[in-house]
Amino acid sequence: MSQTLETSIRMLYDGSAIADRVDRLAAAIAANHTRDRLIVAILKGSFVFAADLMRALMRSGVDADIDFLRLSSYGQGIESSGTVTVLCDVATDVAGRDIVILDDILDTGRTLAFARDHLLARGARSIETVALIDKPGRRQVHVHADHVGFRCEDVFVVGYGIDMGQRYRGLPFIGHVVEDAARS
Ligand code: IMP
Ligand code: MG
Repeated sequence: MSQTLETSIRMLYDGSAIADRVDRLAAAIAANHTRDRLIVAILKGSFVFAADLMRALMRSGVDADIDFLRLSSYGQGIESSGTVTVLCDVATDVAGRDIVILDDILDTGRTLAFARDHLLARGARSIETVALIDKPGRRQVHVHADHVGFRCEDVFVVGYGIDMGQRYRGLPFIGHVVEDAARS
């Protein structure tokens, strides 16, 4: 009898809990009266979050401009490589703009710190940061999110745009990956 590892996903936040948090995040962002706001969503992980947040912002009375910054720090697995690289830069001139950076997960902090420094180096006037999920116990770099959807412990999560090896992005909820020993 051999033993194999099967991956299963345990639900952490369902679709309605996420929708509720996204609405609250939008209200908090909207309360900050900024005129020339540009949302910069970090790809790929924040694309679903960004789409929902844009609509929630509109319901909160904010018709925001959006652009995308594609960064890479992870390979195929679940461990960060530690180096962040720009795969595709924002096309908008960010000089003088008030930027709201969106990321799916704030983990070691390298990605958000890199994005912040990158946009400031291009002349952004101010940076506000939003993380759908914060894992504060994992921080390696000094950076914080001004707005956080959910705080969670050190577990690997997937769904709602977030992947593991490019899988699970289409799940309508956020779950925690569990490796179960299964007999076959
Ligand atoms: P950081 O640079 O270590 O803060 O990592 C941020 C990026 O790593 C996130 O934008 C995700 O793309 C990825 N990441 C961190 N933790 C997880 C996870 O639990 N699941 C999937 N991706 C993750
Ligand atoms: Mg990401």
